[in-house]
Amino acid sequence: DEGKRLMAFWNRRRSIEATTATQEHGGLKRTLSWPHLLALGVGAIVGTGILTLIGVGAGLAGPAVMISFALAGLVCACAALAYAELSTMMPQAGSAYAYSYAVLGELIAWIVGWSLILEYSLVVSAVAVGWSGYAVGFLTGLGIDLPTALTAGPHVAGGLVNLPAVAIIGLVTGLLLLGTRESATLNAILVVIKVAALIAFVAIALPAFDAANFTPFMPNGFGAPALPFGELITGQPAVQTGVMAAAAIIFFAFYGFDAISTAAEETKKPERDLAIGIVGSMLICTVLYLVVAAAAIGARPVASFADSPEPLALILREMGQGTAAQWIAASAVIALPTVLLAFLFGQSRIFLGMARDGLLPTSLAKISSRGVPAVVTVFTAIVVAALAGVMRLDELASLANAGTLAAFAAVGVCLIVLRLRDPNRVRKFRAPLWWLVGAITIVGCVVFFFSLRPSTQMWFVVWNAVGLVIYFLWSARNARLAKNPDQAA
Ligand code: ALA
Repeated sequence: DEGKRLMAFWNRRRSIEATTATQEHGGLKRTLSWPHLLALGVGAIVGTGILTLIGVGAGLAGPAVMISFALAGLVCACAALAYAELSTMMPQAGSAYAYSYAVLGELIAWIVGWSLILEYSLVVSAVAVGWSGYAVGFLTGLGIDLPTALTAGPHVAGGLVNLPAVAIIGLVTGLLLLGTRESATLNAILVVIKVAALIAFVAIALPAFDAANFTPFMPNGFGAPALPFGELITGQPAVQTGVMAAAAIIFFAFYGFDAISTAAEETKKPERDLAIGIVGSMLICTVLYLVVAAAAIGARPVASFADSPEPLALILREMGQGTAAQWIAASAVIALPTVLLAFLFGQSRIFLGMARDGLLPTSLAKISSRGVPAVVTVFTAIVVAALAGVMRLDELASLANAGTLAAFAAVGVCLIVLRLRDPNRVRKFRAPLWWLVGAITIVGCVVFFFSLRPSTQMWFVVWNAVGLVIYFLWSARNARLAKNPDQAA
């Protein structure tokens, strides 16, 4: 009857078989193998987080930002293990969204997918702003001074629009429209440059290590999670500081491995390629970050680089290493676009996954002759370029984190629920200590979410409220599962 039909979305689940089978009809070519995925992973992870937000984090936590890095790395490593297990069971383009659909039902899947759209979009904006910081510094080093009105948003005195950030998004969109394969190969070269630059930074900064820079170690304390939506309740603007607030921001630096799972349908041997790509890239980056953070703090007092739009270059310049600073900036300028590429690519895949399930209009997800969903890619690019032009980096990154935390928490729940519900299903990659890995993922994500600024928490809720209106007005009725109940679990 009608009431029952309307309530069906609540526990409408896609069968895992149907989730895995979609790839046969998806029309995406299988051209990628694990070296591509490892490069895609490191390419998507190392970016504005370690290059720029390290300053924001150090400003919030002081030298104890080292602990923030470790905490964020721990939570992300657990999420990565959960992703590896689920993505090898369900190598489908929608990643966390697709797993949620099969395990937790359509409504939760929608919220996860909608949160992923927020994540992928705002990461592109945030990284473009980070890129702009290094690009402007690089040009200044060459003696080319661009007017502030054209290099920063209105939140900076004299700023109007961050034009370099807008321009780089335009360039990367063009690259992406040329096709996945070319982009993945170029990506591999750029990743090597990016990692080499960070290693060079450590090699130069570490000899100047001064342990005195580590005291006071925790000037702003550890920090407790904020009262949910506390700003609204108390009327006081609440700015979170301390180790947890920094961890909630630094979290940005660690994700991107999830972008690999969105390429699942294009891998030749998903079970092997995804496991190596996801776990491997996560490990490489965690080690790299801890070393870079220690070298940066050891070289200069935290206060000297906390507000910089290009902290690593600034540290080298203040050490009298102007040439090295230019090289780091140049590497960032050349290599940061790999992050943009990965997330813009991932965004179109999430959209594609949701459209194929009938939750978003298929017309928007049509794949061009180059194998790219051109319409949604161009539309996303326009929106994120506009945001990058005017918004603050830390606000963009925080909101991107909110979306990511929601998706990661859902993946943690999926891991646990599926192990309990379906323990004998073949798992090509099994997360070790699954209950602990799942629990750390879920608890970590929830605590980080409430360590974000209350205004960020509020915007996240607003975003999902809009999403739910769309869901109930359009998606719940047009869902493929509503029409093909045979694909339901
Ligand atoms: N982890 C990516 C970065 O730091 C999003 O830029």
